[in-house]
Amino acid sequence: MVGPETADDAGVYRIGEECALVETVDIITPLVDDPFTFGRIAAANALSDVYAMGGRPLTAMNLAFFPACELDIGILRDILAGGEAMLSDAGVCLVGGHTVEDDELKYGLAVTGIVHPQKIVRNSTARPGDLLVMTKPLGVGIIATAVKADMAPADVAAEAVRWMTALNAKACGIMLECEARACTDVTGFGLIGHALEMARGAGVTIRLERDRIPVMAGVAALIRDGLVPAGCYRNRDHFTEYLTNCSSNDDELLPFFDPQTSGGLLIALSPQGANRFFKLAKDKNCFASAIGEVVDRRERYIEFY
Ligand code: CO
Ligand code: CO
Repeated sequence: MVGPETADDAGVYRIGEECALVETVDIITPLVDDPFTFGRIAAANALSDVYAMGGRPLTAMNLAFFPACELDIGILRDILAGGEAMLSDAGVCLVGGHTVEDDELKYGLAVTGIVHPQKIVRNSTARPGDLLVMTKPLGVGIIATAVKADMAPADVAAEAVRWMTALNAKACGIMLECEARACTDVTGFGLIGHALEMARGAGVTIRLERDRIPVMAGVAALIRDGLVPAGCYRNRDHFTEYLTNCSSNDDELLPFFDPQTSGGLLIALSPQGANRFFKLAKDKNCFASAIGEVVDRRERYIEFY
């Protein structure tokens, strides 16, 4: 039902009238020092693509790449324990996995979920008139770069970890109650890259209200210190041609290109749906920020205002 064509978050395969499988895999390199925390982040990140489709994750398999000659095996154990702790928070059953000897440490999971075939939330089905909501602030790529350079203030780093270990399950549940039109999660291509996929998939233009896009505290200062990941500049180089009303070397825009790990959901909702979303998000203590709207296709896919 959903294949690789629209660069959606997960593949979907119908197995019956009432049920389709949602399948995805995600593997990352460490972005924090603590192995257990890294495991939790990697699992929340891998689960996110199922939530982004409106699915419910059921089972997962570990995929670990580990330099056994250089690192103590206890580190791998702690990473896997972190992953399993996050799966258990999500009510997902670990059913197996595989470890490969490798020069560079990496960990991720293949996740399988289910969704009702009529309730799939694609990334390519936003419509003009929809409003856009984001469920986590941006900046974890920049903060992780600062952590690696030992330049991140402790509170800034802790805040990034708090967001990266927050499951998108709650936001997914709310968006299903509000009949979301389209959704994706904000990950490696940054807000702009994933918004672009959403706009291109639906043949619409997305207008983003620059000042309302939430960015984590401390990120602006880290950018001033030059702590910006290469992927952020790469995203900016790739995606600037699809934007209007901005200059390509405006550093204030960098957080919008920042590659996120375990980022939030970017959701398109009808105006009534968006109202309901904010009400439910408030009741359920889920972060939600209105960041823009969907309009008929214009010259560029993304506009700032
Ligand atoms: Co995704
Ligand atoms: Co993914």
